Amino acid sequence: MSDFLNKSQCCVFVLLLHVCHAVDNEKRPNFLLMMVDDMGIGDLGCYGNTTLRTLNIDRLAQEGVRLTQHIAAAPLCTPSRAAFQTGRYPIRSGMAGFGPVGVYIISAASGGLPSEEVTFAKVAKQQGYQTALIGKWHLGLNCERSDDYCHHPSAHGFDYFYGITMTHLRDCRHGHGSVFYNALAHLPLKTMGVGVATMALLHAMGVVTLQRRLVLSLVASVGVGAVIFGLFVVSFPVFNCILMRNREVVEQPYVSENLTQRMTDEAVQFLAKCVEL
Ligand SMILES: *[C@@H]1O[C@H](CO)[C@@H](O)[C@H](O)[C@H]1NC(C)=O
Ligand SMILES: *[C@@H]1O[C@H](CO)[C@@H](O)[C@H](O)[C@H]1NC(C)=O
Repeated sequence: MSDFLNKSQCCVFVLLLHVCHAVDNEKRPNFLLMMVDDMGIGDLGCYGNTTLRTLNIDRLAQEGVRLTQHIAAAPLCTPSRAAFQTGRYPIRSGMAGFGPVGVYIISAASGGLPSEEVTFAKVAKQQGYQTALIGKWHLGLNCERSDDYCHHPSAHGFDYFYGITMTHLRDCRHGHGSVFYNALAHLPLKTMGVGVATMALLHAMGVVTLQRRLVLSLVASVGVGAVIFGLFVVSFPVFNCILMRNREVVEQPYVSENLTQRMTDEAVQFLAKCVEL
């Protein structure tokens, strides 16, 4: 299942973690950290890709450093972000997913990065920095109620948050299908079909007698399952594709169009404020 989710998350999502320094006599550097989902090292010009043009990133590499060894704590959103925020193995904060999916896929989940974890943002804040997280969070939201925000970025040292609380699943984009349909591909439909056909044939030949009630309840269960599944897929965007500014929901479900651009604008605005300070 984690495999099918990975492959279906077609959209690259960027987490921007900005830290800028407050008014202070001594000049200390500002920090901007970027985390990109599902990007391979071979996708960038500065790592040898000649077909995709990534001029701005190439320039960053040229004017800075280009690292050639990288080890990620996990290949999935939630645990890798927990490690990125805390510098600890995700298993230590309870964010290593051992379930079939391995990440949060509904915003009603009560789990998340424990608020006592020491994040990079908390440390920066203690040093007098202003902090912002723009983009994708995916480290939980609430504990007991739908508004306690115990796992929200604001509980982790961020002064400002603009972004989505979950991941950007295909289901959030109207007309772009559902990653959950892919789960159906994992059902052994052929085997089940052959089984049903065989039973029907044996029944017709009088070898076995199928009780009408058993057949009807089986059909009914499959029908009810299908309806529940359909309702889940249809209602998914409303409950899970949420765009927030700080603790306020600004779009639900959010419009995917230009979302990257809007996040970039937010990030640039925050950076501009940093420079003014
Ligand atoms: C550049 O990246 C794209 C996307 O991953 C890939 O399809 C293409 O083959 C790469 N080109 C080169 C020359 O590596
Ligand atoms: C997205 O940007 C394009 C080009 O700037 C614009 O025409 C379009 O209306 C925008 N869509 C939304 C939903 O903001």
